[in-house]
Amino acid sequence: METIKVGAASRSYEVLVGTGILDRLGEFVRASTGCSRCCVITESTVGPLYADAAEDALLASGLDVAPRLTFTAGESSKTLATLGMLLEGLAERELTRDDVVIALGGGVTGDMGGLAAALYLRGIRVVQVPTSLLAMVDSSVGGKTAVDLMAGKNLVGAFWQPSLVVADVSTLSTIPGDLFRDSCGEVVKHAVLADPTLLVELERSPLTAAGVDRLASVVARNVSIKRDVVSADERERGLRQTLNLGHTIGHAIEAAGDFSLGHGSCVAAGLCMIARAAACRGWCSADTAERIERCAEAHGLPTSTALPTETLMRYVAHDKKRHGDSVNIVVPLEVGRCEVRTVDLDELRCLIDLGR
Ligand code: GLY
Repeated sequence: METIKVGAASRSYEVLVGTGILDRLGEFVRASTGCSRCCVITESTVGPLYADAAEDALLASGLDVAPRLTFTAGESSKTLATLGMLLEGLAERELTRDDVVIALGGGVTGDMGGLAAALYLRGIRVVQVPTSLLAMVDSSVGGKTAVDLMAGKNLVGAFWQPSLVVADVSTLSTIPGDLFRDSCGEVVKHAVLADPTLLVELERSPLTAAGVDRLASVVARNVSIKRDVVSADERERGLRQTLNLGHTIGHAIEAAGDFSLGHGSCVAAGLCMIARAAACRGWCSADTAERIERCAEAHGLPTSTALPTETLMRYVAHDKKRHGDSVNIVVPLEVGRCEVRTVDLDELRCLIDLGR
């Protein structure tokens, strides 16, 4: 098992990555929180697979486990209504400020459980137990939690750091192939951002859901990359913005396609497009852009979009990271080195055209 220590300004915690460690969840929760009572929040796909095992492990360590809260799986559940149901559920179970929420599932569950914990009684502790690759390498670490509004994704939320993250890579064996492939978009992004050796490894041998030992090491390296960023800039004032590599165009592709294409796939397409545009502008070499594209392709990820530039620009205009007529984009300078640049919307339009 690997232990990665995250030292965010608001809270320090450990991320535990290993194989078969869900069985030791109770021991880890007790050691890191000292709590005696908890409640598992999960969703309708992951719950039947892993909630019994998680609760058995919690009970075996002497914890009092309140009846679990389950919501319907899927992004469409990331609403204020579901959040309200979870908050009422925590109140009905009489959880107190000494108790802990266990968010068991993928990115949606991490968001819902994390935000419910952030708001209930003005904040109780949450332990993130991610069961998807995307949640392990990205969303379970760093404390971003949110629900969607009719007006857009993730528009209501809080920074609420977990007290512990337990990533058991054996849970990835039940992930559908297309979801696994999609998650690789964030892995490729992290490699381009900060780990040239990882990119070489991914180029030589693309990730697959088989081989849990390799997955544990890849997840741990991704968590370390994210840890370095969020420990320096928890609130996305500067360095954390670099984690948005590929996201400006990626989010526009995601929203314009009505979220039919997965987040990681959209990030991969956005990453390849900004890399090709950066190569055209001379900000990075053509070789850098080609390597990024080949690596995305080797993972079965899209490298561009057929959506018209004007359609994408309409969604960029609604991006919550836009500032007036400009937007901060992240550009690769070389593998392992990226930079945030502020560009106006006309320049972004040119970059999208160049990146096709
Ligand atoms: N997923 C980007 C971040 O956590 O900042």
